[in-house]
Amino acid sequence: MAIVIRPADPAEYSDFAQTMGRVFAWDPEPAGVERFQTTWEPERSHCAYDDGKMVATLGTFSLTLTVPGGSIPAAGTTQVSVLPSHRRQGLLRKLMTAHLGEVADRGEPVVALWASESSIYGRFGFGAASVSVELKVPTQYRAFHRLAPEPSPVQLISLEEAKEVVPPIHARIAAAWSGMPVRRPNWWNARWFSDLPSDRRGSSALRVAVSKAGDGFVFYRQKSQWSGGNPGGELIVTDLMAQSPESWAGLWSFVLSHDLVGSVEADLRPAEDPLLPMLAAPRRAAAVASDGIWTRLNDTAGALAARKYAVDGELVIESHDPFDGSTKTVHLEGGPEGATCLATDRAPDLVIDAEDLGSAYLGWSRFRSLARTGRVGGDQAALTLADAMFGWNPLPWCPEVF
Ligand SMILES: CC(C)(COP(=O)(O)OP(=O)(O)OC[C@H]1O[C@@H](n2cnc3c(N)ncnc32)[C@H](O)[C@@H]1OP(=O)(O)O)[C@@H](O)C(=O)NCCC(=O)NCCS
Repeated sequence: MAIVIRPADPAEYSDFAQTMGRVFAWDPEPAGVERFQTTWEPERSHCAYDDGKMVATLGTFSLTLTVPGGSIPAAGTTQVSVLPSHRRQGLLRKLMTAHLGEVADRGEPVVALWASESSIYGRFGFGAASVSVELKVPTQYRAFHRLAPEPSPVQLISLEEAKEVVPPIHARIAAAWSGMPVRRPNWWNARWFSDLPSDRRGSSALRVAVSKAGDGFVFYRQKSQWSGGNPGGELIVTDLMAQSPESWAGLWSFVLSHDLVGSVEADLRPAEDPLLPMLAAPRRAAAVASDGIWTRLNDTAGALAARKYAVDGELVIESHDPFDGSTKTVHLEGGPEGATCLATDRAPDLVIDAEDLGSAYLGWSRFRSLARTGRVGGDQAALTLADAMFGWNPLPWCPEVF
């Protein structure tokens, strides 16, 4: 029987979770499946059925994503799974074709995802658009640099209190960074305020602290460990962000100063985490960087017009989409106040693959670096202007995997 591709029926949420679970080694308990359902958008899912049985899934989150100078509607590609029995038979390509077609029909200019493997999504026109850093800091090296700011005091609050206090702080911070999904109430509840026993993996319940200055917060867990009678536990930061230098210092100092803790681990950190320059011995903080969020400009002109640019400029960009083989040439005029971008038949200043344009979109990739690897065509003046326009401060950061 032929494979059928269609959205999942809302009643199939358990099948959807089980199919994903088989692929991602996740054996969801009933409470986990129930939580999964609160953010699931069945009408935007695309599933493959073989003889009526679900064998592959692709989900979509209807996101609002921060971009340089604002925020835009974006589709979050998620829950991509193909059963081991059906791999390498073209199912992902079929699901992606249905997904990107639906995104185009809805007029969302950008599609974003996190990639399990960095070799999968370039062929679909997605580019790695931010860096995500994993940090491990031995607490014996928590001393701050002589120029670090005075840490703001911090207070512990309950998860219940956090529901009121933290979302508005996050909204103010997120507005300054590109690459962050705006967190809606169901997202907060499922991803931050839910603390199932299976989430703990041998660690404590979730703890939350906020800066008393009201502009930063941290979510963390603590894991007890003893060796030879001595304490050497871990503190695992799951989210930490702030606005003022004093609050960044206060929150980092707070987690690094816990008794009975030998090291603090934090994943999904930004390329420019203020912690490193605040430490007296930053080399002691082991930092491992990898790709963070990936973006695809599903509507090239619409996406480029939807962000702001660091300096005024004008560029004609020709981009080649490896997903469908199409070429788009657009005339971009942009600056700090906004941008316009329209299809044109003018000769291009830059010739680029859609993957690399996706990678530069939030301000991460630099055109001159790409040109040095032969991936972008254009003269020095155009490359220099493109770097000046697309670059954004701070560098993009996506602090959550979706
Ligand atoms: C990754 C996965 C979804 C691919 O599904 P699939 O149906 O086997 O993929 P397709 O047969 O449609 O292949 C599409 C293309 O991707 C490539 N591809 C597929 N899986 C790949 C992988 N793991 N690494 C690199 N390339 C991969 C194929 O070679 C093919 O390339 P081509 O079109 O240029 O020939 C599937 O292997 C899977 O479920 N893996 C485990 C879960 C996972 O990693 N999901 C992704 C979450 S972000």
